[in-house]
Amino acid sequence: MDKFYIRGGNKLWGAVKIGCAKNAYLPILAGSILCDGIVKLNKYPKYIDIIHMTEILENLGAKKRIEDNSLLLDMTNLNKSEIPSYLATLTRSSIFSLGAMLGRFKKAKVAYPGGCDIGARPIDLHLKGLSALNVKIVDKHGYISCDGANMKGGTVHLDFPSVGATENIMMAGVLAKGTTRIINCAKEPEIVDLQNFLNKAGAKVKGAGTSVITVVGVSKLDSVEYTPISDRIITGTYVLACTICGGEIELETTNGKHLEALFSKLNNNACKIWSKNDKIIVQSGSTHNAISKIETMPYPGFPTDLQAQMVAMLSTSKGTSVVIENLFETRYKYVGELIKMGADIIVKDRSAIIKGVDKLYGAEVFATDLRGGAGLVLAGLKANGYTKVDNISQIERGYENMEKDLAGLGAEIKRISG
Ligand code: UD1
Repeated sequence: MDKFYIRGGNKLWGAVKIGCAKNAYLPILAGSILCDGIVKLNKYPKYIDIIHMTEILENLGAKKRIEDNSLLLDMTNLNKSEIPSYLATLTRSSIFSLGAMLGRFKKAKVAYPGGCDIGARPIDLHLKGLSALNVKIVDKHGYISCDGANMKGGTVHLDFPSVGATENIMMAGVLAKGTTRIINCAKEPEIVDLQNFLNKAGAKVKGAGTSVITVVGVSKLDSVEYTPISDRIITGTYVLACTICGGEIELETTNGKHLEALFSKLNNNACKIWSKNDKIIVQSGSTHNAISKIETMPYPGFPTDLQAQMVAMLSTSKGTSVVIENLFETRYKYVGELIKMGADIIVKDRSAIIKGVDKLYGAEVFATDLRGGAGLVLAGLKANGYTKVDNISQIERGYENMEKDLAGLGAEIKRISG
């Protein structure tokens, strides 16, 4: 297993370009199943989750080609409507394919999905939504089998604004007869992006970004070229890296509007952040104050995917901070690793109480999950001495060349094999 080897203590200076969002690219890849033609997705990012999702599409019969930096998928001859267990467990996004496969084939069978071990992650809302579109579902032996022969538009009221369920139901509605309404849907920017992609291919979806999405069924989606939005979580990770280390960095080809919840916590406390067109500039001194309370929430609230990186930053702030994780019940597994580095953190149920320490110390730590692993890298950048972060394949599920990005900003970080 490869590791990151980090010597902490450097400030960060310079600029880095941000790639496309994993969480936009993944549902768009699933949405490609609806397209009877060539799908060209620009700025193909090599996050492991995206590579796995592409393999899933190839298994369904898609023909893949990489041209310059774009992914071309010929979706005309798809010949399977089933995702077997060995593929479904590679990425949780396999479950987003249910809705799209139902649209295309009027039937679908998907094994229970994989993904980060951060909580129970049920799929009841996905299934409830599909049932409301008159899909017959059998959940047996680790597979969800769906019969969409009589599928039609319907109204779905989500009990919670789940990102994945919203995307799945939205895609199921695209080729279904009639109108589908999703009430209390998720409002994440990646959902707006999925709407834009689907509409560019010929769908009739509106309302994404608000709490009601309406999908008017059409008969076919065509070839399409699309560039998914930039990754707000990678952007936020590097903003927090600069906050913890001090320095001044520019994040290019990204969108500050998607990170207002983060900026409102940091601005004029730990650092100064401002946006200029598609750039974000961060200036940070070497000390920062505790933040009395941060609660993770669905968008536009504070993102759960930045919780670990924020806790890492707060571990050396002046005073005591409280973070409450409302989305995923076991998303503090990385905290034990931060404590090995000298952090003073108590976790009780969904709360983490972080008493800022003067110094973190380098240690050998293990990336328990994708964003927890990113938090450990940030702690390593700040710590005295050397930190080895093991199991970095977890981190690479959602970051491409993180070590190159950070080294380009002046951090001492390299990848070592084995
Ligand atoms: C997506 C993101 C993930 C992010 C999460 C929350 C992708 C590929 N992943 O995951 O990075 O952390 O949103 O912003 O976009 N829930 C149910 N039943 C369901 C579905 C969800 O109870 O059927 C619950 C979950 O257990 C969780 C909450 O709803 O507590 C949010 O989950 P959801 O928004 O669905 O997250 P994902 O789509 O899995």
